[in-house]
Amino acid sequence: MLELHTHDGLLMVHLLQEIVIHNHQVLKETLIRHGFTFESETDTEVIPKLAKFVFDKARDEGGEQTVTFTQVVTEVMRQLEGAYALIFKSPHYPNELIACKRGSTLILGVKELADANCGTLFHDDKTLTTNGKPKEFFFSSDLCAIVEHTKNYLAIEDDEVVHIKDGCVSILKFDYGKEKPASVQRALSVLEMEVEQIKKGNYDHFMQKEIHEQPHSLTTTMRGRLRDNDVVLGGLKDHLKTIRHSRRIIFIGCGTSYNAALAARPFMEELSGIPVTLELASDLLDRQGAMYREDTAVFVSQSGETADTLLALEYALENGALCVGITNTVGSTLARKTHCGVHINAGCEIGVASTKAYTSQIVVMVMMALAIGADKISTQSKREAIINALPDLPNKVSEVLKLDNEMKDLAESLIEAQSLFVFGRGYNYATALEGALKVKEVALMHSEGMLAGEMKHGPLALVDETLPIIVIATHDACFSKQQSVIQQLHARNGRLIVMCSKGDASSVCPSGSCRVIEVPQVADCLQPVINIVPLQLLAYHLTVLRGYDVDQPRNLAKSVTTQ
Ligand code: G6P
Repeated sequence: MLELHTHDGLLMVHLLQEIVIHNHQVLKETLIRHGFTFESETDTEVIPKLAKFVFDKARDEGGEQTVTFTQVVTEVMRQLEGAYALIFKSPHYPNELIACKRGSTLILGVKELADANCGTLFHDDKTLTTNGKPKEFFFSSDLCAIVEHTKNYLAIEDDEVVHIKDGCVSILKFDYGKEKPASVQRALSVLEMEVEQIKKGNYDHFMQKEIHEQPHSLTTTMRGRLRDNDVVLGGLKDHLKTIRHSRRIIFIGCGTSYNAALAARPFMEELSGIPVTLELASDLLDRQGAMYREDTAVFVSQSGETADTLLALEYALENGALCVGITNTVGSTLARKTHCGVHINAGCEIGVASTKAYTSQIVVMVMMALAIGADKISTQSKREAIINALPDLPNKVSEVLKLDNEMKDLAESLIEAQSLFVFGRGYNYATALEGALKVKEVALMHSEGMLAGEMKHGPLALVDETLPIIVIATHDACFSKQQSVIQQLHARNGRLIVMCSKGDASSVCPSGSCRVIEVPQVADCLQPVINIVPLQLLAYHLTVLRGYDVDQPRNLAKSVTTQ
């Protein structure tokens, strides 16, 4: 969190999350004309200065008492265009604090509930029964950050203004058309999260903890959802009929969430019989891609707050598509604005590089495919086989986690490499993209995930004895094609690392000249959940060995809330 002050220190603005002020140039020019000076080129510097300008102007016109803190802040909001979550403080208004947001996330945590006479506007049958004033308020851009203080929270909506004065809180709704914001009543929600989730425990880094947590996170993802040979997704059940009749299912996401959708696509297509397409949220927006009322748009986002994904959601809503949200974050904008959806329940993910959310997202989408395909006779036996296989998946993940030392050893041999290629296809095309993304984002090594079917159309030119190439060749319908890829790379002296199913080492690497990673075999649609784990471990160890920051990679943010 960044704090900005005016020169006289009389106005302070805390910035939560990334902020973008689209009209900062115009505002800056106006403020300069009024005698303000600027020290930086950042767009955010205009915010405290604009607040001071508004305050000074009102005071000059009518004296200090004529303008309330709320009026100052709402006037600032009226003039700012962009995405922000802000907290204002000023010695002019002692014992007052104002927070507001547009676009970005703002969570208010309340440690003790207010008494009705205090002017608080919360009312919730479940929670608002105690007397006594609230002791503490917490503002955060992420629910995980408040869990160690309180479980009572409110996700502030766009254009709401939180006004805290003398220990009492009121929520106002800002309206461009009206001079005064109106009071609104909001109910507190109760956070279902334990404080252990935000501690590293015995691990050195959150990413490491989150990789090793996957047997547990997958168990929670599936908990209560697999019953009597069936899948029950409460958040979807009333919409399954509409989804089954849709003309197309479109998965939309960014980064790892997009890769998870890519991993789930083949199974979704197979079980639903509906064409499934994928969209990177930013690309959909850039193209203003086709979207119809008959479409089901599935938005995948760990945080539920990624700006591009949310803008794509708005676009899909405007075009009349049924919008489904798949997110890890209860109360997130995605969860609130979609028509229906499923929480992945992976628990708090703190490392910037997404790991456990990825595997839980895949499992949720597999379960979603099972739910959609429940009425299709032709795929019943496959459906039942997957439902029966799912409960054992966490055990298989525990098994693959035993490769930790082996992956550390592999990482040691790759420390000096300039680049890494990962070839996959079919269900594991996504694994190639996601494995390469992990290495790129945390180990800061150039790394590319590629569709093995495209190898001959360019990448082959780069193959020599120095470039490490991971080929994913676990046992599925694409196995023989991957065997042939290995042979071709081998013939060109490629530096090969082959991931194969246990027992397949000699058939994927007959001459013993490549390094082999053997993983447990599971049903084809679940194999990406297993196969990504060694690559997550590899990225983790490479990062530590190369001396980079594991949990906060250079230039990256956990949640990208600006475009
Ligand atoms: C950022 C994060 C990635 C994440 C992506 C999408 O780029 O660094 O780890 O995959 O955003 O985030 P979301 O919260 O929408 O899944």
